[in-house]
Amino acid sequence: MNHFLDIDKTSPADLTAMIRNARAMKDARIGKPKGMADAEQPLAGRMIALIFEKPSTRTRISFDVGARQMGGETMVLSGKDMQLGHGESIADTARVLSRYVDLIMLRTFDEATLLEMAEHATVPVINGLTDTSHPCQIMADIVTYEEHRGPLKGRKFVWSGDGNNVCTSWLHAAGQFGFDVTFTGPETLDPNPRAVEFARSKGSNVVIDRDPLRAAQGADAIVTDTWVSMHDPESARERRHNQLRPYQVNGAMMGEAKPDALFMHCLPAHRNEEATSEVMDGPQSVIFDESENRLHAQKAILRWCLGV
Ligand code: CP
Ligand code: NVA
Repeated sequence: MNHFLDIDKTSPADLTAMIRNARAMKDARIGKPKGMADAEQPLAGRMIALIFEKPSTRTRISFDVGARQMGGETMVLSGKDMQLGHGESIADTARVLSRYVDLIMLRTFDEATLLEMAEHATVPVINGLTDTSHPCQIMADIVTYEEHRGPLKGRKFVWSGDGNNVCTSWLHAAGQFGFDVTFTGPETLDPNPRAVEFARSKGSNVVIDRDPLRAAQGADAIVTDTWVSMHDPESARERRHNQLRPYQVNGAMMGEAKPDALFMHCLPAHRNEEATSEVMDGPQSVIFDESENRLHAQKAILRWCLGV
């Protein structure tokens, strides 16, 4: 059974096949209304549970629309409205849900919850974000980079800011797709050492540079994310803002990158905090393509999980 839990746990051949399939499905829908069924209906008769223990706009809507375009049925569930949020174990929830649905997508806090769900479910489980990683986002980002600039192999990606869950999935992708990552941010918010080690073990050059302008030099893409993630305590907000302000992606930082470098952000963004509106709305920004590509990438992930 194919669970989609993380990019480092999925083979490069399967990842590449999903990216190719996502791009083909995207091409096949050009000019069609969003609600029109795809010509092929590989999810016909399949029921998909989308469970959220944290808020979501993109993940929720893109999975829902994508599954329906392929003929599937979906139910969007809030963790706190389920017995899961009131003491029923994750293992029992996984066993019960597997009797009703054909696939479970889960957005949760602790990665251990996702892994326990996958261990006890008898249907595929997809990681829709945990405190630790966000693989669906980076699959969409790979589609986005490729469609604008071609293969990622050998490119220099610069991550500026918090070494968070999204950064971890970028590092996993660096290892699997063969590109390099320079992290620039404060030492207290360094990237996950296991993700750095994974990327390096696959031959990626991972550099940590505290100087944001020097780090940005020669970048093919500059990537950032919110300074305060959903799992971060509200009490840390002020400290994080103070630490991360020097790592804002602005005109000066983009000016150090290659002239054709892309600016990427998974969204939601806090304008003029982690990135200026000038950059977000500028000609190098592909942020809304990243959002759109969630739809196409996840359709490919759903098909891979279900083997259809
Ligand atoms: N990028 C992303 O996962 O967005 P949502 O939180 O809106 O799903
Ligand atoms: N790092 C952010 C990503 C949101 C899509 C968070 O976890 O809140």
